[in-house]
Formats: sequence, structure tokens, C-alpha cells
Amino acid sequence: MDTLLNKTIAEVVSDNISTASIFKKYNLDFCCGGGISIAKACQKHGINPTDLVKDLESNLHTSDVPNLNFKDWDILFLIDYIVNVHHKYVSDNLEVISEFAQKVAKVHGQHSPEVVEIAALYEKIAADLVPHMQKEEGILFPSIKAFIENKNTEFPFGSLEGPIAMMEFEHEEVGAYAKEIIKLSNNFAPPEWACNTYKALYFKLDEFINDLFQHIHLENNILFNKVRAL
Ligand SMILES: [Fe+2]
Ligand SMILES: [Fe+2]
Repeated sequence: MDTLLNKTIAEVVSDNISTASIFKKYNLDFCCGGGISIAKACQKHGINPTDLVKDLESNLHTSDVPNLNFKDWDILFLIDYIVNVHHKYVSDNLEVISEFAQKVAKVHGQHSPEVVEIAALYEKIAADLVPHMQKEEGILFPSIKAFIENKNTEFPFGSLEGPIAMMEFEHEEVGAYAKEIIKLSNNFAPPEWACNTYKALYFKLDEFINDLFQHIHLENNILFNKVRAL
């Protein structure tokens, strides 16, 4: 138990991505704020470390989904995976969730003011994510690939550190909006009287934010770490 407590959240998730859902259940950040030890995170958020460790251990023993070892993946493959899985997911779902959020805010905003805030936060995420992914796909990722393939170190923006730090900063920003949505939606629990659009909105937001956290984790804790180590 002690070894697990001394590991950082990011390390545990990097070793086994299926543990991400457990940290999410305890509202612990594994993507932007994953650099602290599990013991410290429990202390900071008033969580009983024994409960968390028990959940983590039972997850490690019962997971029947093959664990993808992103940590061991080649950088070029990891970049293609991020673009084809996570960027594609965002592009495919951004619009439909926005429509649900606008509709729910319009119809239920008066008696559930939090859905108006949720819609506004979601629009902020969408407005940030689109140019963010364009920068990754158009500038940062091709530069990383060029660096690896040709050992090209001449970039118009100096070194890779600048754009990486900028991406990390933008991750923090969208991550903060996402955490606010989790809080406002009471962890995606629709009220009993919710209509189907309301339920669909919370279901899709839950899926979207899960995907977002995993996406940010892969970039911050795995891809950028690997690039910095080159
Ligand atoms: Fe990305
Ligand atoms: Fe990113």
C-alpha cells in the first residue's frame, strides 16, 4: 500500500490507463495536476487513502480489458494515436454536444441555472480546443516528427519547449473548465424530472470529459515527457 501511496497519480495512470476512472471517481486530477503523490492528493482533498488504494488494487486485479502500454509506445505512433482517436473524437462530437447544451440551457435554464453555466463553459472549451488541436496537428506534432526523423533542430519558434509549454498551459485552461462542469452537473447526475435531451447532454458530457482527460494525460504525462527526454 505504501508504494502505491508514494507514487504520483500521473505515474499510476501512465502504468495502467484503466485507473483513470478511479481517480475521476474521487475527483482527483490525473492529467494537469497529476504530478503529486497519491498520499498528498488524499490529504489535500480529505480522501481516505485506504479506500482509494483498495479501489486501485481491485481494479488492477479485475481489469479484463487489455491494458494499452502507452508509455512504451514509439513517439510517432503515439502522435498518430492521439490524432486519430482523441482529436477525431472531439471533431466528431463537438457540434452535437453544443446543440444539446444550448437546447437544455434554453428550455431548463430558468429553473436550473447551472445548465446555462454549463453551456457557457462548454462553449469556452470548444472555442479553445479547436485552435489548440490545429496548432498541435499543424505545428507541434509535425515539428516533433521532423525532429525525430531528420534530427531537425531548426524551428521558426526556437526550440520545442516553447510550443509544448503553451500546449500545457492551454490544457490547464480547458481542464479547469471541465472540472467546473463536473461540479455544476453534480458529476453528470441529471435531476429526476430531466427530459431525454437533458439526460443525453449529461451522458455525452461525461464521455467527452473522460476523453478529454485521457487525451491531456497522454500529451502532458507521456508524449511531452518522452520528447523532453530526447
Ligand atoms: Fe491533442
Ligand atoms: Fe493538447
